[in-house]
Amino acid sequence: MAKPKVFVTRVILNQGMNLISGFCDADVWPGELPPSRVVILKRARGVAGMLCLLTDRIDGEIMDAIGPQLKVISNHAVGFDNIVVSDATARRIPVGNTPGILTDATADMAFALLMVTGRRVVEGDRTVRNGGWKTWSPSFMLGADFVGATLGLVGFGRIGRAVARRAAGFGMRILYYDPYPAAPEAGVAAEPAELDALVREADFVSVHTPLNDETRHLVDAAFLAKMKPTAILVNTARGPIVDQKALYDALKSRRIFAAGLDVTDPEPLPIDSPLLELDNLVVCPHIASASWATRARMSLMAAENLIAGLKGERLPNCVNPEVYSAVP
Ligand code: DGY
Repeated sequence: MAKPKVFVTRVILNQGMNLISGFCDADVWPGELPPSRVVILKRARGVAGMLCLLTDRIDGEIMDAIGPQLKVISNHAVGFDNIVVSDATARRIPVGNTPGILTDATADMAFALLMVTGRRVVEGDRTVRNGGWKTWSPSFMLGADFVGATLGLVGFGRIGRAVARRAAGFGMRILYYDPYPAAPEAGVAAEPAELDALVREADFVSVHTPLNDETRHLVDAAFLAKMKPTAILVNTARGPIVDQKALYDALKSRRIFAAGLDVTDPEPLPIDSPLLELDNLVVCPHIASASWATRARMSLMAAENLIAGLKGERLPNCVNPEVYSAVP
């Protein structure tokens, strides 16, 4: 029997790739950069399944160009703001994602950014390399304390809680804001707070919300103006949650002490972005989930979602399960 045709928008790790090639006739985009929209519209035509990355915008136009035989879209990410899920649901196409398995890696990265910005690690490294360090001195490169400091978590889902567990180990007080709180997880001593109070009280603010219409530019000039001048902002969620111009102004004017970003808007930041001139910003190339084991598990989970959809089975991780309800 012929294998189902799928389009895979980038080479993923072997664990997932092997599973896909065993079951599917896969056209894998070989480029280092994402395929353009024109390429997706052309190459994905006629496939039964698509595995895409967070860099691919997938909407109804693409789904229609692929054709009515499209049975599944599997996103190689937990976030799925790159897919117009309502368009998929309207066409009764299940959309898969990769929740849970990148929680710890992402929380590690958030905590790493809290620490490198708070203790000026990158700035220190740069200073040594460029000859700026002349001698040990009592007031040289002072930074933040962690024990007893308040961490404000904006979003208290899986990743926010995992950051809370790390912060508890550092003796921090933890506040969280989440308008859609899930059941509290045992072992995390964290207090709920209104967003306004959290922003004013926190010494560190770490963002862990999905990107949607409610959260786009949630961290804007007004938000940053409420933060303590000694406070630090970390974003490992999605770039557009933070208004980059407002962040630039707040960092440049030392309205806040520092920021650590794993995600930016746009990605990548243009090399001449004014943000990159700032010493009190540490920026990484969206690598929070980039640990060996995590990326292997992500590739597997994305492949499993894809194959389940091709077989007409329920996706193990589906973001629009309403597609399985009876047709009204
Ligand atoms: C995700 O999965 O949404 C991350 O941003 C990348 O791993």
